[in-house]
Amino acid sequence: MLPTKKERQAELLARHSEMLRCPVCHGALTLIHTASLVCANRHCFDVSRHGYVHLANAGYRSKYEQEMFLARRTICEQGFFSPLHAAVSQKLAEYAATSGEPLYVLDAGCGEGSHLARIREEVIARQSVDVVGAGVDLSKAGIALAAKAHPELIWCVGDLANAPFADNRFAAILNVLSPSNTREFARMLKKDGFVIKVVPGERYLLELRERLYAQPVKQVYSNAATIQRFAASFSLIDCERVAYSFRLDQPSLAALVQMTPLTWGAAPQQLAQAHELEGGEISVEFTVLVGRK
Ligand SMILES: C[S@@+](CC[C@H](N)C(=O)[O-])C[C@H]1O[C@@H](n2cnc3c(N)ncnc32)[C@H](O)[C@@H]1O
Ligand SMILES: [Zn+2]
Repeated sequence: MLPTKKERQAELLARHSEMLRCPVCHGALTLIHTASLVCANRHCFDVSRHGYVHLANAGYRSKYEQEMFLARRTICEQGFFSPLHAAVSQKLAEYAATSGEPLYVLDAGCGEGSHLARIREEVIARQSVDVVGAGVDLSKAGIALAAKAHPELIWCVGDLANAPFADNRFAAILNVLSPSNTREFARMLKKDGFVIKVVPGERYLLELRERLYAQPVKQVYSNAATIQRFAASFSLIDCERVAYSFRLDQPSLAALVQMTPLTWGAAPQQLAQAHELEGGEISVEFTVLVGRK
């Protein structure tokens, strides 16, 4: 009989339990009875039916989030993020080629997990290497979706401010359109490890912003302050602009409107204007920052 998702995940967790740490006392965790992770102080965390572990003191869940994550997944499947995935995979594959070791990658703020799953597949296709991937997010809805779709990866509900991973564990931390915690990132990275942080570029969803906001000041977006903060915490070794356009048919426009915080709280009239984008192209632009510890 094929193993269940929970069994597959338990086997992965057992193999890589040294990667994790207790979010309460920061001690090592051991898998027991393929069902729970326990530390020496008896803090105990159950493996869920879908195979992820809840390693945060608190978590949140709302229907709204589930819909947002499903929309992100839909548009990802339609290729919206593909050039970004190619750029990030290329960087990781280049690193893997020089390191010669299995590549340990953490996606910090992974949402529903598509980025990590796709990037891992692309790295393996580019460079025949073992990639051990783990994703962490404070959203239980996001992590549950990730674990259901990708049992070959480790998924944890966890807080980036008190990340449930041991010190010096990862060669790379991905941080895609999510908040950072530079102190925790530095702690979890190996000596020569690096962070790949993806932030929106100036033209990201420009046509949507033009339709949603009347004031030109709100239509403009600058990531300069984020880049500066990143460069103050890590030594910036690469900063690549990844820009392209994406054709919006009806399903992809619907998914885009649902996935982006830009439309949250938008009035019906603004949303109607956003729907004028159907059949057109939308600008997609990211800045991919690579910083060494
Ligand atoms: C805009 S979403 C991006 C998700 C995913 N990287 C993507 O691009 O689809 C930001 C994510 O950061 C997560 N997040 C925010 N604060 C967090 C924290 N303190 N710890 C862990 N995750 C957090 C949210 O739950 C959310 O999934
Ligand atoms: Zn503990």
